[in-house]
Amino acid sequence: MRNHLTVVDHPLVQHKLTIMRKTDTSTSVFRQLLKEISQLLAYEVTRELPMTTTRINTPMQEMDAPTLDGRKLALVSILRAGNGLLDGMLDLIPSARVGFVGLYRDEETLKPVQYYFKVPTELNDRLAIAVDPMLATGNSSAAAIDMLKEAGATNIRFLCLLAAPEGVARMKEAHPDVPIVTAALDERLNEKGYIMPGLGDAGDRMFGTK
Ligand code: URA
Repeated sequence: MRNHLTVVDHPLVQHKLTIMRKTDTSTSVFRQLLKEISQLLAYEVTRELPMTTTRINTPMQEMDAPTLDGRKLALVSILRAGNGLLDGMLDLIPSARVGFVGLYRDEETLKPVQYYFKVPTELNDRLAIAVDPMLATGNSSAAAIDMLKEAGATNIRFLCLLAAPEGVARMKEAHPDVPIVTAALDERLNEKGYIMPGLGDAGDRMFGTK
């Protein structure tokens, strides 16, 4: 991807996101819309996947038809909110391999703490797409990308629903080689590290917790 940050300003994405932001949107609608948006974002983040051709027979004649080239890509969910993006993306890319990075944010320091890490083999040979709905301080995202690089990934993209300028700057400083795809770039973080105007806690909203 050419740009470090791509904001997918497609009308369907923007309309669905507005509904997700609203306080009175239910958990089930929030989850359904996140799934729908994740597929539209997945379409964008995979736009430049390498292609090859395969010789096939149509009912009419033979042809060299386009197919995806290279190893199956790896989707890496940053737990737990990343799973809300993962489900929809897997519907679109069912053969993708899946990894999980368990990180929680210490509410006092806002620093990421790792509790789980499991990723597909041959990561060096796959496009790895890390997914987390909220790019807030960027601390956990940057830490997750550090771990993916340590595990061998060299071709990484980061997909989120909402980004704060602070998080984008942090990622650009730590991982300038990792393009970010998001549905919106919001105004700022508040003093607790929440994205403003944002949509609140993405995990709580998709799982109905508090
Ligand atoms: N994580 C969330 O779920 N929401 C925010 O606004 C920031 C981080």
